[in-house]
Amino acid sequence: MDLARTHARVIALLADARDIVLTRAESGPPPWAVSRLWQDYLLTRSEADLDRADTEGISNWFLRDPACPPSLRELAERTLAVTTLIPVVPGTPPPVDFPSMSVRKRGQVAAILHLLRESFPALSEIVDVGAGRGHVTARASSALSVPAVGFERDPERVAVARTLAGDLPVRFITADVLSPSDAPLLSLPPRPDRLLMALHGCGELGDALVTAAVAMKASVLHLACCPQKIRGRARHALVPGGPTLPREILGLANVPSRTAALEGERPPTLASKKTRLALRYLLAVRGWSGPVGEEMRGLNRRKADAEFAVFAKAACQARGFPEPTPDEIAAAAGKAHATYVAQRRLAMPRSMLGRALEIFLALDRALYLRNHGYDARVLQLFPAACSPRNLAVLGRWPGVD
Ligand SMILES: C[S@@+](CC[C@H](N)C(=O)[O-])C[C@H]1O[C@@H](n2cnc3c(N)ncnc32)[C@H](O)[C@@H]1O
Repeated sequence: MDLARTHARVIALLADARDIVLTRAESGPPPWAVSRLWQDYLLTRSEADLDRADTEGISNWFLRDPACPPSLRELAERTLAVTTLIPVVPGTPPPVDFPSMSVRKRGQVAAILHLLRESFPALSEIVDVGAGRGHVTARASSALSVPAVGFERDPERVAVARTLAGDLPVRFITADVLSPSDAPLLSLPPRPDRLLMALHGCGELGDALVTAAVAMKASVLHLACCPQKIRGRARHALVPGGPTLPREILGLANVPSRTAALEGERPPTLASKKTRLALRYLLAVRGWSGPVGEEMRGLNRRKADAEFAVFAKAACQARGFPEPTPDEIAAAAGKAHATYVAQRRLAMPRSMLGRALEIFLALDRALYLRNHGYDARVLQLFPAACSPRNLAVLGRWPGVD
């Protein structure tokens, strides 16, 4: 894959589809669906069509559907061309025997350790950014027989990480790596052949990691998640020419993948979305309104999968509102169903672009590293079944070996 060419292609795609990326299908057909004459086509897709699009991939499905309008087909073609360009790391890494980890996490860690051994055989130190409970930090340190430092802002996680690491040459530091006054990464003593890494280093951590790596002449392995977790109102591209993306749309790059279930597992449910919508309607009857997502404040998201009547009662109780009547519950559920059916169909072109947006963010970071002298790549490191957030930015500082 030619990094600069793919970067230019994905930027052109996102520029042509910017209005789609910027506007969700929340209350009726969005202007982009109306102006492109996609509205009738989208709204008349059957449930079976949607299920197929979910499992085959939306762009694949649009391309196979003879009724798809030509302009939507062209967008699907361009999206697929970009998303299939990212190389998949071949083969299956040797399995790891970490009984305390979920099967998914084991798959992620096995792939990371394999890549580290193959790509960075001569490191002097690993710095794990957003180390969490330090599982990856400790395993990477022992797999490569090098000391490691884990930065984590949550002191409770740091305490667990220290206990779990035992006698390994690994230390954990409680720090906010984004703090401009402390700049903890840049405060590390100079050292050649260092690797800055993060498994699911969320939001702004990705940009902080690659810019610090360039300043420190360190190599990079970064897998992103939750790109919307940024402090500012927008993310500015690291490489000139890339789009500035408002915070509220960055979450599109975190779209769940229904094809991402492990074998024998139930695919992630979409029903919870409908439940949350019904809850908004129900709370509106009690005089409440707020931004999307606010309705779940203080509630356990997993409970949104429960029967709506049970969830609705718990939600009203949590807010100190009177218990909803059966009629109120039925009215909210009915309205939510109708809205959800339309929204799900109208959202398809925008959801399709989620992976392209995620790829843009990874390419922007990789190209930034390349422009600073790195040997940089973007790879799909493990199957989406281990985690749909599987894009790795790999940057080898030339002095590393
Ligand atoms: C998604 S978790 C990943 C944890 C770990 N890398 C793993 O894969 O198990 C992201 C972690 O980054 C930490 N984090 C987020 N922002 C941070 C910051 N600014 N400084 C330090 N840690 C941060 C969070 O507290 C969380 O533990």
